[in-house]
Amino acid sequence: MPPTEAEISALHEHATLAARHSYSPYSHFRVGAALLLEPDQRQDGAIVAGTNVENASYRLTCCAEQAAIASAVTLYGPRIRIRAIAVVNLNRAACMPCGACRQTILEFSAPETAVFYPNELGETVSTTLAALLPAAFRLTTE
Ligand code: THU
Repeated sequence: MPPTEAEISALHEHATLAARHSYSPYSHFRVGAALLLEPDQRQDGAIVAGTNVENASYRLTCCAEQAAIASAVTLYGPRIRIRAIAVVNLNRAACMPCGACRQTILEFSAPETAVFYPNELGETVSTTLAALLPAAFRLTTE
């Protein structure tokens, strides 16, 4: 089910609060992400947020989306499913999920999972994971 206007606005609020905690002394790019979870046995449609955590060894940086997903799994277990995700930043810049984050989101999402992010004009783009990551890698073993 697509998120309601109230749910989308709650996602943006949580993502913005998370972005205020960003640890980004190298890029100064303060990102927040918030997930709306499908209800399950452990929660009733919880919102879980994360922020980017950088490192002096730059490639060790954790993106906001990945931090949010790690938190959600920690809080609610490995069976979480993502209904929607919003990404924001405090730099008034475009901020679509990076390639690695798209693959990480896919792990816990459906093709129709809603993704919201700011574009170059400062508008919120509403799209789906399938549109952002066509022909995604999936591990199929016997
Ligand atoms: N960043 C995210 O948190 N999410 C993304 O999807 C793209 C980039 C962060 C990583 C780094 O701390 C900063 O933005 C600049 O790349």
